[in-house]
Amino acid sequence: MRVLSGVQPSGKLHIGNYFGMMKPAIELQEQGEAFLFIANYHALTSVHEGAALREMTRDVALDFLACGIDPERTAFYRQSDVPEVHELAWLLSVLTPMGLLERCHSFKDKTAKGLAASHGLFAYPVLMAADILAVNATVVPVGRDQKQHVEVTRDVATRFNNAFGEVFVMPEPSIRETVAVVPGIDGQKMSKSYHNTIEIFGSGKPLKKRIMKILTDSKELEDAKDPDMCNVFALYKLFADEAAQVELAERYRAGGMGYGHAKTELFETMERYFEPMRERRMRLEKDPDFVEDVLRAGAKRASEVAQDVLGRAREAVGLA
Ligand code: ADP
Ligand code: TRP
Repeated sequence: MRVLSGVQPSGKLHIGNYFGMMKPAIELQEQGEAFLFIANYHALTSVHEGAALREMTRDVALDFLACGIDPERTAFYRQSDVPEVHELAWLLSVLTPMGLLERCHSFKDKTAKGLAASHGLFAYPVLMAADILAVNATVVPVGRDQKQHVEVTRDVATRFNNAFGEVFVMPEPSIRETVAVVPGIDGQKMSKSYHNTIEIFGSGKPLKKRIMKILTDSKELEDAKDPDMCNVFALYKLFADEAAQVELAERYRAGGMGYGHAKTELFETMERYFEPMRERRMRLEKDPDFVEDVLRAGAKRASEVAQDVLGRAREAVGLA
């Protein structure tokens, strides 16, 4: 099994990113070789300010390492340090039907939200396919919104293999259904672009304030409440163990507990959950050389594989 996933450094990482992608990817590194990268080429589809991109890239590196990437097991790198993916993207691009990209939800969603409809944004699933195929990934842990892109990858890889011979390994998406769509504070999918996120490394007052903003219905304190219809409870379930979940659910159903109380429980549980990671992040922040070394070593490992795959692809199409 070879695991690969990536995240765009286009804003502060949130608990949807954490449960949908980071935690599964970090757990999968125990089972096989893993490649995780910071998709900074992808982020250029929405971030057009050099200093901001650089800072967000650094933040994502710290976040991931703090959350548990083991650099011994996992090649952790910046996408732009493995430029082989671009040449590969072109070789895939010429085999990608326009219709396949036109059907991608992500382009439609992002342009509907006001992102410029650039060629890069439209073609981005092809670059994503190159990210995956360049390292012979077999398992791609992602949230549900990325499933279609892994399907595009399989489609294009099959076209290539049929046309030129077996070069690419077929990847599978790995989606944890229980956390495939973590809701935001407004109940929609949590997403940087919906401004409804709860940051992983928020804490103290700002975190509490954010949690207090979670949308609930207008039931009175004494009313019985349905935990399964409540955004606060949906988020609480991500952090609390089974016994704590059952206990809070009973208090919802019994009435006499307000949503403010459930929110406080969520706040305290979340602070405890991320505490060890927050400490690790503070230590890492003081050691930028270590972080840089990890990223360089990761890029070296990814490049070795990518050069081999690209070499075989060039040979197959008649460039070499
Ligand atoms: P965003 O929607 O905030 O821009 P990204 O598109 O950068 O997030 O997603 C990075 C990874 O996190 C992807 O694998 C994506 O599927 C996952 N992810 C993002 N939001 C959620 C969510 N609300 N629930 C589950 N997974 C998510
Ligand atoms: N498109 C992904 C996102 O927006 C990030 C990404 C880029 C990715 N390349 C990838 C994820 C390859 C998994 C595999 O979240």
